[in-house]
Amino acid sequence: MAHSRRISRRQFLTMATAMGAAAAWAAESPSRSRYTPRERRDLYPAGVASGDPDTTSVLLWTRRPFSDRAQASLQVEVAEDEAFTRVIVHASAKVMATSDWTCRVLAGNLKPSHVYWYRFVDPEGNSSRVGRTRTAPTLQDTRPVRFAFVSCQNINVGAQHAYRRMIFEDEQAADEDRLAFVLHQGDFIYEIVAYPEDNPNGLWGRPIREAIRLPEGERVAGPGGAWHIPTTLGDYRTLYRAYLNDPDIQDARARWPFVSMWDNHEFSAGGWQSLQNFGGVDRPRQTRKVAALQAWFEYQPARVTKSSGPSLESFAPPKVQDAPIEHFDEHGMGVEPNNQAALKSLTGYRTVHWGPHVDLVLTDQHSYRSKDPARRREASVFKSDDFPELFPQEAMEVLDAGREYGGGQPPETIRYGTQEITNFRKEEPAQTILGATQKAWFLKQLTQSRATWKIWSCTLGTLEHRVDPQNLPPGLTRGWPGAGYATVATRDHSTAYLERAEIYAHVRDQKITGFATVCGDRHAFWAGLAAASLPPKAFEPVGVAFIAGSLSTPGMVETLESSLSLTHPLRRFYLTEGSPGKAPILNLLFRHGVRSSLEYQRTGDLTRARSLSNPHLSPHLSFLDLQGHGYATVCASKDRLECEFVCIPRPIERVPGQDGGPLLYRVVHRVPLWRAGEKPQLEQTVISGDPAFSL
Ligand SMILES: [Fe+2]
Repeated sequence: MAHSRRISRRQFLTMATAMGAAAAWAAESPSRSRYTPRERRDLYPAGVASGDPDTTSVLLWTRRPFSDRAQASLQVEVAEDEAFTRVIVHASAKVMATSDWTCRVLAGNLKPSHVYWYRFVDPEGNSSRVGRTRTAPTLQDTRPVRFAFVSCQNINVGAQHAYRRMIFEDEQAADEDRLAFVLHQGDFIYEIVAYPEDNPNGLWGRPIREAIRLPEGERVAGPGGAWHIPTTLGDYRTLYRAYLNDPDIQDARARWPFVSMWDNHEFSAGGWQSLQNFGGVDRPRQTRKVAALQAWFEYQPARVTKSSGPSLESFAPPKVQDAPIEHFDEHGMGVEPNNQAALKSLTGYRTVHWGPHVDLVLTDQHSYRSKDPARRREASVFKSDDFPELFPQEAMEVLDAGREYGGGQPPETIRYGTQEITNFRKEEPAQTILGATQKAWFLKQLTQSRATWKIWSCTLGTLEHRVDPQNLPPGLTRGWPGAGYATVATRDHSTAYLERAEIYAHVRDQKITGFATVCGDRHAFWAGLAAASLPPKAFEPVGVAFIAGSLSTPGMVETLESSLSLTHPLRRFYLTEGSPGKAPILNLLFRHGVRSSLEYQRTGDLTRARSLSNPHLSPHLSFLDLQGHGYATVCASKDRLECEFVCIPRPIERVPGQDGGPLLYRVVHRVPLWRAGEKPQLEQTVISGDPAFSL
């Protein structure tokens, strides 16, 4: 990607064509707008957006449907002021029914680190709302960089006013403290849609909002009733249109450029490669994977690569069939040609450069991953209702590594209580989430980066979460059948032990400093150190990692509130009784362990409880809140990195007003830049509120 150097008009046109965008070259001297437009937001129902800025260009986006023609031309204007008295771009761009009337324009010849305003005007003089965007700084611009990272917005059961809060705070902030961009780490849509008539008691304890009907949806079994999932391009487009109808999402996209990557729900909840998994069964769905990627391409302005090659206006999907995927290569990649073609139809992983301090490396956690071993039918023996969410760590390590376990010496069986369970992974390759090609690319990005902070945008969590059920006193419940610690089988990098260790060993061996990871997916706030292993193994952090709470989707605690039996003997370790939504005691269990939790249950004294913390359980963690919602911001400068968690109460109903409602807490995590070989020193400050069990 072009980075801190001006490019010629000719190079720019080539670049725009390569990313499938109309090109709009800015004039050297501004002029007044050619229009006296009438703003008609109803004619542009998805608003406007911008994405993936570099130092001189940015992608601009809108959707303008017409019912009386197959295509139309829009005019796009980019101005240096909000009133459009200094317009520098006048260009035209096509919208077509075949692209669902979405429009992508690459505006170029812009100045670095500048704020611009843009709008679209149709042939009748009706204009979109005005969008605001910003270009990236050059390498010489040493000012701190501030951006937000968000994930997991669900309009079916939640409200998106965390964005409102973000906008409110940004408007109040001094110019130099404003957010440069928003990193969206996926679950921009939820493809699993609940209809009220199927789920009379709501979902996860929340009422269902009637926001989406999928014209060709497939009904599948879901918690508390049924899901409806998209089957066609039309269904996926329907989802984006419904989500962009949300006023808070739409306002956020109009205020900042977004840098976006999909997580699982942009395709399928249990999806991997082009397979869907409902009811524990993998089904080849190459046609749906292509449809999901096409809709993403049409609705997310991003510098991504499609296999159909250069095209100004359309995605041009490859023709694929839903053919069985039965053979996998040594990296777990399905070799079936339709699977390969579907995955290649859009490549999303990329690096975004932002001045001298930030290289943001975005990876795709779902398109190239091997099958999650913990979701295998044979692995269900390690899960038990006696120990909700828990999975024995030593078993997970064996299943993760497959034939590579113990340096190529995998055991025949795995001991679990009094049983010897056959190691069904003994002959199989180790688990990968990134896949071989993307992983090689990723490691090279880290090595090549000269930025102060090499920030890995990983849509899935990387920080390990574990519990010490081996310390439960006898008699409370059935004895823990595992050999020691328990982990949570969440299909993320926390249990992809081998691959994570390979990445962290690379960081260590290449003497890479300033390695920070930002994540989504967990629907919870976490802060800590990036380490390949925890005690009793070596604990050697090579970086820091942060996970932002969901914008609105319920987290683990909230789903347990509606699903865990009232008489479950361990319920008091998981939930704070009588006060749904109150800081969950489960935080204490993950952070400090069974003995701390028991002490708190007995005395209600948090200081005493923390004094009994198990120091070997989670030395990598400095903060976790398993039910927090909101967003996080990063401020990266030449000598330190700060990450702020902004937590709001459960966003079930939209909070009216301009400030996005009250906060539960605000916490800042700070790390000075360390030298190669040094351990990062993470410290935190509670700015407001009481995160209680999170510390
Ligand atoms: Fe999510």
